[in-house]
Amino acid sequence: IVGQGQAQANANIALIKYWGKADEDLIIPTTSSLSLTLDGLSTRTSVQFLDLNAGPDRLAIDDQPQGGKALGRVSRFLDLVRRQAGIDAPALVSSYNTVPYGAGLASSSSAFAALAGAACVAAGLDLSPRELSRLARRGSGSACRSIFGGLALWQAGQDDASSYAQPVDSQMDLALIVVLVSGQEKRISSREAMRRTISTSPLYQAWVDQSQADLEQALAAIRANDLQALGPVVEANALGMHAAMLAARPAVSYWLPDTLLAFDAVRQIRADGLSAWATLDAGPNIKVLTSGQEAARVAEELRRRLPGVNIQVHKPGPGLQIIGSD
Ligand code: DP6
Repeated sequence: IVGQGQAQANANIALIKYWGKADEDLIIPTTSSLSLTLDGLSTRTSVQFLDLNAGPDRLAIDDQPQGGKALGRVSRFLDLVRRQAGIDAPALVSSYNTVPYGAGLASSSSAFAALAGAACVAAGLDLSPRELSRLARRGSGSACRSIFGGLALWQAGQDDASSYAQPVDSQMDLALIVVLVSGQEKRISSREAMRRTISTSPLYQAWVDQSQADLEQALAAIRANDLQALGPVVEANALGMHAAMLAARPAVSYWLPDTLLAFDAVRQIRADGLSAWATLDAGPNIKVLTSGQEAARVAEELRRRLPGVNIQVHKPGPGLQIIGSD
């Protein structure tokens, strides 16, 4: 073993979304985005760089050996780390998730943030949080935000050096409730779906244009500690993104009938006077933004209206944690 490292990161859910790349290779997004890193949706990854004659990179996720696309994507990411560290060594990567894989729960965000952290330690690279954010971005865009805990702002930038996330200072008492409509793998990858939305949806540019104003409104609401102002813009930004997807040709739809039922339940709960706004990513599960103080009651109301659906409250969680080098 030439070097080893271990790190853990939590998934983040975007409040103002990232959907589309201005540069596919560097993963420079078309819009800036804002997210909340959550407790209890984590990936823990260990990386060992081995002797040169150890053969190709190997990857296991939850003890299952991986090949094909997953391994290719991890290997290409490790190449960036190897290049930066000036090493050639093949790697052994082992990863454990508490995030249902591919269910639109942003598993790639925790995965590539943890991989960036573990690989850098293993390669002897000492990067700042901002540099780690830029590196994690190359694996999966949303991963750049999981380097930080709580609220994080990914400024789109225009090149590798200017596209990174940073923490947003806030005293807000926030919680996100994950409503697990379906744990099945997504039908179309977000990468492919973004491409199709950009190149065929007549509504895409309108969403991009609105996104800047949405972000400013969300940041102002956070500065004012005003959940009643933050919630509506969070929900509208996600619905606008999905409207752009639905207008793509052929349409990109992550909606299941139960997704609509869940949205409707959120509307009812809000009409009853509780704070609750829904957001949706590249999968059928909704996440409900509320306050930490109201979270238990909102979850209870959701469970009552959506019997049999798995509903979990998540508080804001920490960013990347380096667990050790040996
Ligand atoms: C809908 O970060 O998974 O969750 O950069 O292609 O790996 P790649 O995409 P990814 O996309 C996340 C999209 C989203 C919105 C968001 O997290 O901002």
